[in-house]
Amino acid sequence: MTDPGERLRSSLAADQSSSASSSSGMADFDSPIAMEALRATRVLHAADQDPFPAPSRIRVITIANQKGGVGKTTSTVNLGVALALYGLRTLVIDLDPQGNASTALGVEHTVGTPSVYDALVGDSSLGEVVHPTTASPKLLCVPATIDLAGAEIELVSVVAREHRLRRAIEAYIHALPAEQRPHYVLIDCPPSLGLLTLNALVAGDEVLIPIQCEYYALEGLGQLLNNIDLVRQHLNPGISVRTILLTMYDGRTKLADQVADEVRNHFGDLVLPAVIPRNVRVSEAPGYGQSVLTYDPGSRGSTSYVEAARQLAERGAALPPLDRSGMAGVTAAPPVAALSVDDGEQHAVSTQESQ
Ligand SMILES: Nc1ncnc2c1ncn2[C@@H]1O[C@H](COP(=O)(O)OP(=O)(O)OP(=O)(O)O)[C@@H](O)[C@H]1O
Ligand SMILES: [Mg+2]
Repeated sequence: MTDPGERLRSSLAADQSSSASSSSGMADFDSPIAMEALRATRVLHAADQDPFPAPSRIRVITIANQKGGVGKTTSTVNLGVALALYGLRTLVIDLDPQGNASTALGVEHTVGTPSVYDALVGDSSLGEVVHPTTASPKLLCVPATIDLAGAEIELVSVVAREHRLRRAIEAYIHALPAEQRPHYVLIDCPPSLGLLTLNALVAGDEVLIPIQCEYYALEGLGQLLNNIDLVRQHLNPGISVRTILLTMYDGRTKLADQVADEVRNHFGDLVLPAVIPRNVRVSEAPGYGQSVLTYDPGSRGSTSYVEAARQLAERGAALPPLDRSGMAGVTAAPPVAALSVDDGEQHAVSTQESQ
């Protein structure tokens, strides 16, 4: 299996040998503490040294798996922080009434806080409910409050209920000048396949599925994939599963390897080479309103998420600028993917125009 920190380790090893030769005996990078400090420096000064490539188009990624506790929120938050620390403007949308992503990003989400609920069910624009984060000036968050728990029912009577989030994101992006548009929009879904997840699947251009390296990991996945197929046929022809991320990998168990192998056999190249290990620092970080990258940047959890985010970004830079496959004959809202970042002008291409 590919070691998620391989790239980082080799660059650290290069640093180690060059500093050893330049100052004989001065820096002992063999010591675990020194290595961890070096890793931490690397992560925290990432954007200056080694920025991630920008995607060829705005990527709206729905992080979904109706199975609970598989690492959806942890992956959304840590990938989001990694992308932002490495130079890419990122918006995290918390679409889970539990509000875990908001907590982990240290964003207020008590009842009454302007939140995604106001944009989905109310009349607020997404721009009115976006909050800054302390992790990075490039990372913004739309928090979820407990009000969102009622949205599944309240949305039932709303016109175009499945399209509410997509339209909110499109309006938000269109209203921004190109140099302020996010490169990445990450949507954290609740552990269900209800109207909230449906809104996220209609809003996204791609799905990232975190899979826990545990028994039963693949159970229920068929149902999620069927739902994504249905959404593609009827509501959002542009959606596809583009990324699988293996989470909570425990290298001490044979089971973790078996699950990882099975997932790779099933999904092939969709599975990121980087694997997120089970790491206690990852689970501690939200308690401090932080991602693991800011809480313990040198930890294995942190470096693995950085590596996964780098692979995600590299794949994003290699995507075709505009993927209109399957769009013919469908009258949907313009794909967000058709909007570019950083080119100084908006050029949304609606599906009607593309026919
Ligand atoms: N790599 C990891 N190492 C250790 N603990 C982890 C790791 N990833 C996630 N966890 C912990 O596992 C639990 C579930 O993770 P998380 O909340 O991200 O899952 P989820 O899929 O979003 O859950 P839900 O379905 O409830 O929304 C959390 O307590 C989290 O801190
Ligand atoms: Mg969650």
